[in-house]
Amino acid sequence: MKKLLTGLFVLAAALPAQAEEITYAKHIKPVWEDQCGRCHDSSAPTYEVYMADPKKYDADDKGPRMDTYETLVFFLNGEKEAGALMRRLDDGANAKDGQAGNMYRHLGRSEKRKENLQLFKKWVGEDAWTTKKTAELTKDDLQKIKAPR
Ligand code: HEC
Repeated sequence: MKKLLTGLFVLAAALPAQAEEITYAKHIKPVWEDQCGRCHDSSAPTYEVYMADPKKYDADDKGPRMDTYETLVFFLNGEKEAGALMRRLDDGANAKDGQAGNMYRHLGRSEKRKENLQLFKKWVGEDAWTTKKTAELTKDDLQKIKAPR
């Protein structure tokens, strides 16, 4: 198994770098800072604290903290809230009821909003993008998620 993994790593390293890999550090974090930070930054409660009294924080326009790679991907492939990021940011095109997620509007105005959604989709992986509920996500769905640092 170890050998196989090493082999895979060597293979991956040998592949030509994708022309435009969307990474958290280079692409997502700056958009996040502009559009999401004021309500989800380090002044916002951690997920556990938020969950203890959501209404209190909602009234203050504070959602759960997601100001690092780890705390953001918790809402992507973490056990408790997998898929939340996609469901909340989706423009409705992927949803059964055609309704956009309630964080979609925070992605920016008109064209910018579409561009930023596209950026998040590319980062997650376009064929991984889904609005399935956490409990409906299969292992396969979760494995498709890329979200490079
Ligand atoms: C004006 C404040 C505000 C902005 C800006 C904002 N959010 Fe939120 N967000 C909230 C609040 C409050 C909640 C909790 C209430 C709810 O679930 O709708 C929340 C909830 C969420 C959740 C669900 C968390 C969970 O518990 O499952 C995600 C994911 C999320 N936001 C992502 C984002 C992203 C990504 C952005 C930027 C594009 C963003 N939000 C911008 C206030 C905001």
